[in-house]
Amino acid sequence: MAGSRRCWPVTALLLGVCFYIVLFTKLSIPFNSNQASPARFTSTSADGINITRCATALSTATPKVLIGWAHSSDLLNPRPSSGLTLQEAQQICTDNCGNLVWALAALRLLDPDTTKVVHIPPPFTTTEPISALLFPEANLLLNISKYDILTSVASYTKYLSSIVSSIDVPVMLIGIGTQVHFSDAGITRTAGGDAEADNADLDKLASQVSLHPEQQHFMQQIDSTGGFTTVRGDFTAAVLTANKLQSSYPLGCPSLFLNHNMQLGAVLRQKWDALLAARSTSLRVAVNLPNIGGDKPFPVELIQLVTERLLKAFPNSVVIMQTPGDEHELTGMHERHGLFLQPSRVRFYYDVDSWVEGLKSCCDLVFGFRIHCTMTGVAAEVPGVLLAPDLRMKELAEAMRIPSVDLFDMKTTETSVGKLDMETFNLFDFLESVDAYKGFDERRQEVAQVYAREFERLGVPLHPGVVAIADGVSGAHT
Ligand SMILES: *[C@@H]1O[C@H](CO)[C@@H](O)[C@H](O)[C@H]1NC(C)=O
Ligand SMILES: *[C@@H]1O[C@H](CO)[C@@H](O)[C@H](O)[C@H]1NC(C)=O
Repeated sequence: MAGSRRCWPVTALLLGVCFYIVLFTKLSIPFNSNQASPARFTSTSADGINITRCATALSTATPKVLIGWAHSSDLLNPRPSSGLTLQEAQQICTDNCGNLVWALAALRLLDPDTTKVVHIPPPFTTTEPISALLFPEANLLLNISKYDILTSVASYTKYLSSIVSSIDVPVMLIGIGTQVHFSDAGITRTAGGDAEADNADLDKLASQVSLHPEQQHFMQQIDSTGGFTTVRGDFTAAVLTANKLQSSYPLGCPSLFLNHNMQLGAVLRQKWDALLAARSTSLRVAVNLPNIGGDKPFPVELIQLVTERLLKAFPNSVVIMQTPGDEHELTGMHERHGLFLQPSRVRFYYDVDSWVEGLKSCCDLVFGFRIHCTMTGVAAEVPGVLLAPDLRMKELAEAMRIPSVDLFDMKTTETSVGKLDMETFNLFDFLESVDAYKGFDERRQEVAQVYAREFERLGVPLHPGVVAIADGVSGAHT
């Protein structure tokens, strides 16, 4: 009580100054603030507050563009509290902490200074004048045969449809994709097979994917809002075309823009070349593990290769965990291959900024089977290679020019650069067989230009860092 009495004079003074500023601004500054001449108010108030500066700041502050967000409000908190277990973090991460990267990266496409995100919880109505709905989505588009079995996807699709029909603004659907395994699409290469020829015929593959009428309806709804659809890659774009749906932009994941360095690809390539030149066993590798669904057999050979040729061969390497199933793989490494990783060699993130900072400080290379750990590496300027176990990751990697190899079959370890053989596998030889960041910066500029065009069309301010990438290194605006 005594404390608040002592504060009273200060509070009164502040209130008085605020009132004065508001009155002053209202009376003296024309509404079209650009024409206000600050020169008229060169006074400084008695208590040292520069009224000119305050008044100018207040009068030039244009209202922010409001962007709707109908996903979980947890995702709007970029820094969740620390200390959770992998299981506890599922509350925040959903079933895979990689999803956080996707959501945060979509939010960071917005200019933080001129936009404000408005959370719209169920029943998805708002009185706020929002300009557009930001709607990052997952690998939701399934072939009808799977859709009929997976009731969770069916109910989620209907749920998304209900959101879009409740909120009547243009929807920015970011990064929706298909979920098709190489084997579903008939791409199974045995040694000496001809997978490349099959891969080339995307349209033929895409025509084998029929979307359920409920999913078609959802996509048509998005189209009719006047917004836009970005998809993960060429394959999903071809699936939409084959199903006579809207045209879409195959842009990969927005995490391509977590880092605004305009020469990002060149930097990654330089680091890649340097570690290949050094071929040092002290290389600090960040290993992310294959996501093994409960329905699939444990890929014994693949885990053995990761254990022996990466984690044992490179003692400074660490494992980055993303899903609770990863713990099971660590147990497998211990029980089958005698590798017990000390806690100091196991990392786990559910705060994307810490993830990026962590990779920056711990590691020289990201190796693994998860797109989002590869992408946090990109954001951290740590080069990486992705072994893409399905068409979903393959198309993402290709759309963003991320070094990747198709892993056709986890069990046989057949890949697009040949079978990964436990006995002979050498990390550096393997890296040499991969195209590293060829055309990355040019592609990233193209992707940024699509965002720039579409955001501008909808009157949504794009992050200045992405605008700069769209404008180009030698652009007049930089
Ligand atoms: C007050 O702020 C204005 C605008 O920033 C500046 O031009 C002026 O020099 C400042 N006046 C004083 C007395 O600091
Ligand atoms: C998609 O489902 C149809 C109908 O069940 C089936 O004929 C087709 O082979 C499936 N395609 C893929 C890629 O699984």
